[in-house]
Amino acid sequence: MRINKIACIGAGYVGGPTMSVIAQKNPHIQVTVVDLNVDRINAWNDENLEKLPVYEPGLDAVVGEARGRNLFFSTDVDQAISDADMIFISVNTPTKTYGKGKGQAADLKFIELCARQIADVATSSKVIVEKSTIPVRTAATIKSILDHTGKGLQFQVLSNPEFLAEGTAIQDLHHPDRILIGGEDQSAIKALKSIYEAWVPSERIITTNLWSSELSKLVANAFLAQRVSSINSISELCEATGANVEEVANAIGQDTRIGSKFLKASVGFGGSCFQKDLLNLVYIARSYNLNEVADYWDQVIKINDHQKTRFAEKIIQSMYNTVNGKKIAFLGWAFKKNTNDTRESAAIYVADHLLEERAQINVFDPKVQEHQIYKDLKELNTRSASENSELLTVMDDPYKACQAAHGIAILTEWDEFNDYDWKRIKDNMKKPAFVFDGRKLLDRKKLEDLGFVYYAIGE
Ligand code: UDX
Ligand code: ADP
Repeated sequence: MRINKIACIGAGYVGGPTMSVIAQKNPHIQVTVVDLNVDRINAWNDENLEKLPVYEPGLDAVVGEARGRNLFFSTDVDQAISDADMIFISVNTPTKTYGKGKGQAADLKFIELCARQIADVATSSKVIVEKSTIPVRTAATIKSILDHTGKGLQFQVLSNPEFLAEGTAIQDLHHPDRILIGGEDQSAIKALKSIYEAWVPSERIITTNLWSSELSKLVANAFLAQRVSSINSISELCEATGANVEEVANAIGQDTRIGSKFLKASVGFGGSCFQKDLLNLVYIARSYNLNEVADYWDQVIKINDHQKTRFAEKIIQSMYNTVNGKKIAFLGWAFKKNTNDTRESAAIYVADHLLEERAQINVFDPKVQEHQIYKDLKELNTRSASENSELLTVMDDPYKACQAAHGIAILTEWDEFNDYDWKRIKDNMKKPAFVFDGRKLLDRKKLEDLGFVYYAIGE
């Protein structure tokens, strides 16, 4: 089986960067990324590479190299499906907001629509690759829809979950720890494997059965999220006992069995994956009546919610138990540094909590746009849009955001926050000048020497 043309349905945070790298490394394969969202496709096609819809370090260079050569972005979904030998499905699978499984199960509406569209449009046999994170056994649904086209076509379904992390997507795609391919048909597996072998050593490409591959993606994210909740739970114990969470993380991380990565205490994990995938895992476990298993993983989410609430409460309590009318500057809104993605960002929930207490919030984030911040708050439905814009202002200058503030909260670990002129910031603030560091980013000694009252998670 030889793959000459690839289509990818979904030009989001996963589909866009992943297909850009596949095209970069396989110049002989034509890769077309399609999306229903016209603005998004226009942005992917923008001549100014700074306007790509996804901000990722190094992405502009990859797109610049491949776009127009063998990488194309289009809204013509039917044409791309019809032309392709292999189709990646990389659409969103949000948590259901209605009906059975509301608030927990993954909404597979978009996946099913893709399968139906492929079934309608295809006139030749194709390999379908699940890139989106989906519940275990979704491939059976896709296969069932494709097997009933009545056109006598052969569709092979493979699972190939993406493990890139935002902010380091290009680095992760260029040097993956592993590529996982699940499937039954050996020639389809071989064809997909050969695409990755253009740059990934063969021994890093793992093949499994379909269900192991689908489940492994959920489990990988659950384990990563669990580590963050584990260290975050310890951060509270550190604050109560006088231990320092960074020292504890360092001490336990030296044990090679535990390992040092992903032990950074924070205001709580965010991102489009961790919470959604945990909820999904909990839902699947419950649907098999595995209630103890479900409760175990549910606790990882509970600790994460607790950490966000605890941080907001700490701000209120430190500022003499009221923030009503007080100005609090938020440095950072993205769910982590080096991305403009705000999905499930801790900043949204901390802001919501403080706005309920009638705080005045100024937000500065180097990459997140104003309309996104208001959209995030609107989606919570806690108060009207006009109240949100009365209480919260988005600034394009960090010094202006901190001007006359009673306190500053660090919500995202952007490197540039460390380089600010903190003396200038302090001189222009109300006193006592509080800093609440939700990322343990700044230098305590430096800030205390300048006269700040400094609080960091887990100290
Ligand atoms: C995650 C997985 O890492 C990736 O493999 C998968 O494909 C998608 O989900 P992502 O959500 O993009 O990637 O970022 P990640 O680096 O995992 O961070 C998730 C959240 O955890 C962020 O809010 C981050 O700030 C937080 N985090 C991470 C911590 O608070 N402490 C840590 O030690 C690590
Ligand atoms: P992810 O982080 O998984 O990449 P995103 O939400 O960033 O998720 O991207 C998913 C993209 O998939 C969106 O841009 C959305 O418009 C697109 N999409 C969803 N359903 C379809 C469909 N049936 N056809 C084409 N594009 C779709």
